[in-house]
Amino acid sequence: VLRYSAVVLGAGGVGKSALVMRYGKNVFLEQYDPTIEEEYDLTVEYEGKRSRLEIVDTAGVEQFTGINESYIQRGMGFVLVFSLTQEASLRDVDHIRQQIYRIKGGEEDVPIVVVGTKMDLTGEREVSSQQMKELAVEWGLPFYETSAKKGWHVNEVFNHLLARMRKR
Ligand code: GTP
Ligand code: MG
Repeated sequence: VLRYSAVVLGAGGVGKSALVMRYGKNVFLEQYDPTIEEEYDLTVEYEGKRSRLEIVDTAGVEQFTGINESYIQRGMGFVLVFSLTQEASLRDVDHIRQQIYRIKGGEEDVPIVVVGTKMDLTGEREVSSQQMKELAVEWGLPFYETSAKKGWHVNEVFNHLLARMRKR
């Protein structure tokens, strides 16, 4: 059985845990309960093959401490999460992205997917699709707009990451 590990990073409250819960258990986490650290060991089918995917859901508040460093060393792939309703959280993703490249080296090879959450909250939106398209080109990374609440594009995120990790 193939084994993969993904680490989910991003600012506090952006929806990292809700994203992982939607993917892993197909439920929506309505309540906000700040994470300390959560690990999931999932069995996933990807292109007809069974794999084990370990997902580490991290604490958003830790992002500028040294704690990220050990997560980055440990992970094969990364889901960098921001909220479409909070532009500042996108700058945090930029910072984490640079941290990953500094620690892992070899920019092209690190599997990373960038995820904007809370797509369903259209009235509160602060980050446009156009802005994301431009950053996708600038950073050379795939971007997804998702809603854990509605279940929109959540599986795509992890399938894309699995595909990237497979190629390594
Ligand atoms: P930390 O663990 O503190 O880093 O936060 P987090 O990034 O894990 O955020 P969490 O998943 O706990 O979500 C925070 C709040 O946002 C919760 O009340 C969620 O229900 C809400 N939320 C998350 N995703 C969505 C979404 O797609 N749509 C809506 N409407 N709310 C969401
Ligand atoms: Mg959380």
